[in-house]
Amino acid sequence: MDKKFSITYSEEKRCFTLQMERSTYIIGVAGEYLGHIYFGRKVPDDAGRSMLFEDDFSFMKGVPGDKCTFMDSFPFEYASEGIGDFRPGSLSVRNAEGFLGCELKYADHRIYDGKKKIPGLPATFGTNEDAKSLEIDLVDDTLGLVVTLSYSIFRGLDVVTRSVTVKNNGSENLRLEKVLSACLELPWENREIVTLSGSWGRERFIDRRPIGHGRVEIGSKRGISSHQEHPFLAVVAENATETSGEVIGFSFVYSGNFVAQAERTQHDMLRVGMGVSDYNFLWELQPGESFYAPEALISYSYEGFGAMSRTFHDTFRKHLIRSPYLHKKRPILINNWEATYFDFNLDRLLEIARTAKSAGIEMLVMDDGWFGHRSSDNCSLGDWIVNEEKLPGGLSALANAVNEIGMDLGIWFEPEMVSPDSDLYRAHPDWAVKIPGREPALCRTQLVLDITRKEVRDYVFNSISRVLKSANIRYVKWDMNRPLTDVGSMASAGGEIMHRYMLGVYELQERLITEFPDLLLENCSSGGARFDPGMLYYSPQIWCSDDTDAIERLTIQEGTALIYPLSAIGAHVSICPNHTVGRTTDLYTRSVVALAGTFGYEMDITKMSDEELSEIRDQVEMYHRYSDLVREGDLYRIKGNSPLYKNGNDRASVAWMTVAKDKSEALLSYVQVCAVANRRAEVIYLQGLDEDSEYVLDDGRVFSGAELMHIGFVTDKIWGDAKAKLYHLTRCR
Ligand code: GLA
Repeated sequence: MDKKFSITYSEEKRCFTLQMERSTYIIGVAGEYLGHIYFGRKVPDDAGRSMLFEDDFSFMKGVPGDKCTFMDSFPFEYASEGIGDFRPGSLSVRNAEGFLGCELKYADHRIYDGKKKIPGLPATFGTNEDAKSLEIDLVDDTLGLVVTLSYSIFRGLDVVTRSVTVKNNGSENLRLEKVLSACLELPWENREIVTLSGSWGRERFIDRRPIGHGRVEIGSKRGISSHQEHPFLAVVAENATETSGEVIGFSFVYSGNFVAQAERTQHDMLRVGMGVSDYNFLWELQPGESFYAPEALISYSYEGFGAMSRTFHDTFRKHLIRSPYLHKKRPILINNWEATYFDFNLDRLLEIARTAKSAGIEMLVMDDGWFGHRSSDNCSLGDWIVNEEKLPGGLSALANAVNEIGMDLGIWFEPEMVSPDSDLYRAHPDWAVKIPGREPALCRTQLVLDITRKEVRDYVFNSISRVLKSANIRYVKWDMNRPLTDVGSMASAGGEIMHRYMLGVYELQERLITEFPDLLLENCSSGGARFDPGMLYYSPQIWCSDDTDAIERLTIQEGTALIYPLSAIGAHVSICPNHTVGRTTDLYTRSVVALAGTFGYEMDITKMSDEELSEIRDQVEMYHRYSDLVREGDLYRIKGNSPLYKNGNDRASVAWMTVAKDKSEALLSYVQVCAVANRRAEVIYLQGLDEDSEYVLDDGRVFSGAELMHIGFVTDKIWGDAKAKLYHLTRCR
């Protein structure tokens, strides 16, 4: 038996063991209940049954009496509410009379190679060779409910996936008020919590804090995974660093309302839960019906945050992102948003395209403003008809002209929206999400389309499809620029709309990539409000933030890359002074920061001087030289910019590396954020190299991997703020 990749069940011990590369996950059956035993460093199969504390519970010994104490203390693998467990529950079910109560007992299990899909939802995938799965059925005979907990593991990765199916096998309607996807019971042990928080233009700032008594909870009620909180949470040892200490990371493969919580309970355990938020959620489950809860991933590292990041990066690259672009060099694009905003026409776009082409840029992306009579953000969403005043001859004329210049064309859509000032809204006012009788709140002068309705989804899909078929368009930026409010529908039950809305988004994106398999899709939501694993299932890259300032991006991209591979992070070189913060940064620094992402441009390139254009040509070459390494390599944070690092981080500089999987090559990016007087050149400690190999820098200096990692690397002295330097290392011996 491969002790690095196996799932077993011991009849004798009544234990399930999931063995991964360097970690083990163990579940035990105690009496009729399923309990969590362990998730941590590698241990033998079936170890640790004492963690179920069976001897503490007279109830477990068959003595009648104190079931309540048992219910509130047992480390349930999946916790149901209403029958004596007062800790955060995973499942709340009401029967037909409205009474809350559900008691889950072990019934059956299956272990198999490979991994099943979750109907209608994004999820990780694997083959019979690289994935193994376990399904455990829990039943409540009173309700006629079957709850199936699904687990999968992947060869070589320390990550467990979890999802849940709730099936009504009874004869009465049931009401689901909460169905989380993962629940994990851990010893508290002074652990801390790490989350990603922010706002528009400040997405995914890393936050680290101690866990006291009571509950810490983050989530989104906005119908999108949101700028404000992120469907990620890590429970970490108080001494965890980038390279050492225990880090358990939770990531949710979903793009809508979510909750992630950890509660330190009375017996100093930590119950962690993650799933679809119970806010505005009420699912009517009729006899014979099933509800599928999305997938949560739980990673384990005892080598700090760096190893957690690389586990998620590899999981997403190998088992989540399906796009044919995943392993391809992405075209260098130039987007006209910051260049023109709504004020453009054919000539203006072609002028940008010609100059961009002369600098080696490969694709022009036409952003918002090409349809209806949209010249500001207050109209025309939903009317996906080209504005021929701006673009005479329509999209085919534009595409032909751009293709003649030698570039590809991409286009912006905001498919889920409708402007009150639009032909679509005038024809179908009931197609907007709103509560009948109540005036819905406008946001960016727009409303959300009720894509829980099939006819609305069909309209949206046909509109996009018609546009894409009308011209040679190779790329779509799918935007979503407001939260859901006034959540009502003419067709869907109130408590079901939020989740049905997400199912609608996923169905639309699936149809899009099925009908246009060669399309490069980039998701976006007012910058990075829907940067989540759910979206990665459909698009290999996501626009990270509307804040394109290179120094701000250091923090935003560091938080984003805590879980997402650099190949997924939409990053562009933009104009200075920066449109969001007014900062002026070296053009070179801007390119080094954008290189830690998909790399592109977002500026009026026609206004650049000859000198700047020649620098852009050099940057294009730089991208071609390093993009394989950045896209496919392993990320190492050498010096971070966030509170992840507790001590000794002056935040005056930031450095990161991408290292080829075979360790033959590495690229070190170093940014001096803020110059400091009378300081010696900085010593940094590289990571991820082969200790026994020698590496040559492009300037000819040779160092051993061991020297660079243990003695350290002395960076060049740099004059000035916001200055960057790249160091490229190639194995020479
Ligand atoms: C959002 C996006 C921007 C841009 C505008 C267009 O804010 O994040 O990149 O596309 O919409 O309206």
